[in-house]
Amino acid sequence: TILIVDFGSQVTQLIARRVREAGVYSEIVPFSAAEEAFRRMQPKGIIFSGGPASVTEHESPRAPQALFDSGLPLLAICYGQQTMHQQLGGQVVTSDQKEFGRAFIEIVSPSALFDGLWQVGETHQVWMSHGDRVDSLAPGFEVVAKSEGAPFAIATNEAAKRYSLMFHPEVVHTPDGGKLLANFARHICGCSGDWTMAAFRDTKIAEIRDQIGKGRVICGLSGGVDSAVAAVLIHEAIGEQLTCVFVDHGLMRANEAEQVVSLFRNSYNIPLVHVDASADFLGGLEGVTDPEKKRKFIGAEFINVFEAEAQKIGGADFLAQGTLYPDVIESVSFTGGPSVTIKSHHNVGGLPERMNMALVEPLRELFKDEVRELGRELGLPEAFVSRHPFPGPGLAIRIPGEVTKERCDILRKADSIYLEEIRNAGLYDAIWQAFAVLLPVRTVGVMGDARTYDSVCGLRAVTSVDGMTADVYPFDPAFLSRVATRIVNEVQGINRVVYDFTSKPPGTIEWE
Ligand code: XMP
Repeated sequence: TILIVDFGSQVTQLIARRVREAGVYSEIVPFSAAEEAFRRMQPKGIIFSGGPASVTEHESPRAPQALFDSGLPLLAICYGQQTMHQQLGGQVVTSDQKEFGRAFIEIVSPSALFDGLWQVGETHQVWMSHGDRVDSLAPGFEVVAKSEGAPFAIATNEAAKRYSLMFHPEVVHTPDGGKLLANFARHICGCSGDWTMAAFRDTKIAEIRDQIGKGRVICGLSGGVDSAVAAVLIHEAIGEQLTCVFVDHGLMRANEAEQVVSLFRNSYNIPLVHVDASADFLGGLEGVTDPEKKRKFIGAEFINVFEAEAQKIGGADFLAQGTLYPDVIESVSFTGGPSVTIKSHHNVGGLPERMNMALVEPLRELFKDEVRELGRELGLPEAFVSRHPFPGPGLAIRIPGEVTKERCDILRKADSIYLEEIRNAGLYDAIWQAFAVLLPVRTVGVMGDARTYDSVCGLRAVTSVDGMTADVYPFDPAFLSRVATRIVNEVQGINRVVYDFTSKPPGTIEWE
């Protein structure tokens, strides 16, 4: 195990991810809880994260002395590097020369950290982000790599197995960063590298049992991958203490509701309350055209339905959610414990307070692709696990203007033709998200010998890593023509198809 001490960097979780990729288990703990965690975990090595504070300020975070006293291998990044040198007798100063972004470091001396990876004399790209800098190194340290702006880009005490980096090895802009972290965890700390998603599953199951005890958990299924994986994992941990509620708002894609219900009831034997609330949702959406009003209504109605169902089954002590790491911004307050802010798209936001429930969020540390891997580990069918993301408000935000059952039905048909063609062309997995939208615009066409006057369908397909930024998927024009022809021929109510060529930013992925 590697202990990652968090000083509040926005990218600390990426350190854990890179260490996981090296097959080594790691835990992130706030600096203020590091000493207790260290005694409990008995790690083989320690990593200090970066952070937003300045070592030169009086109140800024420090690492517990016990970590240094342990004599364990230590890798210190950015802020962690500064506090390590300061605490071990070096000196840090505020610098006017702030350095952010791509930089190139030159290797000047060998080190166990990049043994077999980088040679003396070579130059390598890294990602810098710092304002302060170490002015004099702690005793025993020597420079092994430098750059123009960073004379101590990497400084190490090889005998003590302590390594300090001014740059961030955990981000993708440091191309060899993952290998550096793997080298540290496996070769320097001696971790075996055989940790897997199966082990993560076991650890999480134990944690969930610990947290829940004899309590009852309720989980809202959205039809998406995240809530399904969370539910199956929690069911493995506590079985019948979990009840899942699937609120069908009538804004799902074709066959989606049936798939979810059958997956849970038949494949997993997980008790599932299936609520068909489509009449309430569609009724409430009557006459609503403003995108934000749609979203707010759907969110609020979802809570109403969910709460009513929860009460019918006698309530619960915990609410399970499939929150992922990108939904979570975790910061560390300088004076003590972690202060957590959650930015969440989730449909059930607001419920825990209203119903007085605690949250269970077993996927908080994972990224989307890792959730998919965990889903496979739990035996979820590949077709389910690899599904594109689908927004909580469903088709309502893909039908600009008023949403009616009729328009949902038209959109469902067009959408399933589009996705069928994408699957047939073998492109589904290369695309982050693809879907059709139905526009409130009618145009003139001619079919057979008759004039048509029908709606326009827009097609969207993007590539993305996390949904935060996205590129348009460059389909072959012949493919788009085939889809357009099929949609116009097979879907009554659509007589024209257009393709959306807008990246994000400036567009968003969804149209509303
Ligand atoms: P945008 O449209 O903001 O979408 O570029 C980014 C990603 O988030 C999804 N999305 C949502 N997911 N509830 C969700 O669960 C929502 O209200 C919601 N709105 C957007 C969107 O599908 C894309 O993957």
